[in-house]
Amino acid sequence: MVDSERKEHKMSRPTEVTRDPRTTDTALAGLPQDLDQGVLRAAFGAFPTGVVAVAARVDNQVVGIAASSFTSVSLDPPLVSFAISTTSRTWPALRRADHLGVTVLADHHDRVARQLAGPADTRFANLDTTTDDNGAVTLPDGVAWFDTTIHHQVEAGDHTIVLLRLHAVAHVEHKRPLVFHRSGFGLHRPT
Ligand SMILES: Cc1cc2nc3c(=O)[nH]c(=O)nc-3n(C[C@H](O)[C@H](O)[C@H](O)COP(=O)(O)O)c2cc1C
Repeated sequence: MVDSERKEHKMSRPTEVTRDPRTTDTALAGLPQDLDQGVLRAAFGAFPTGVVAVAARVDNQVVGIAASSFTSVSLDPPLVSFAISTTSRTWPALRRADHLGVTVLADHHDRVARQLAGPADTRFANLDTTTDDNGAVTLPDGVAWFDTTIHHQVEAGDHTIVLLRLHAVAHVEHKRPLVFHRSGFGLHRPT
């Protein structure tokens, strides 16, 4: 390739992708029109997150889910968000709650996280929970806690982004959070 061609090639692809020359798995899998869901899932999983329990007492039953899509959003007003699948069978009940409790799970909560994503009728079986006066449910041995109400919901493809307004927060310094990465718990190092 002559210099002028190389220059033109660079100009037509202003965004360069850094690839690890030892592997091919960092290659861009496709342009937006042919993104494969498996590839998308794997790429999303490269981004490590924490895991929260979102839970409340509704009609005298504790309902909730595990969610890794939690993130802080705004200090003023105080907002956090998570994304819930439009196919969720729990959300129609959970969104009726006056207040929703959000617990940032601790590193020993890996089984708890799986349980909170499992069959709805046993999700809270044998779990230590606290229900406040407004019905928000939290797990006392977490890392941080938020008392919230639904501020706004935004349709976003196959998920709904739920913005939660904060009414009370607490956290502890001496515990480590549960990390979700590449479909597993803990940070997965390349082998
Ligand atoms: C670690 C982990 C993180 C999860 N994060 C989310 C999430 O952010 N959003 C979501 O809709 N479901 C998430 N799920 C799945 C839900 O916990 C739950 O299994 C799902 O909503 C189906 O149950 P439902 O039909 O009762 O809602 C996650 C599951 C696990 C194990």
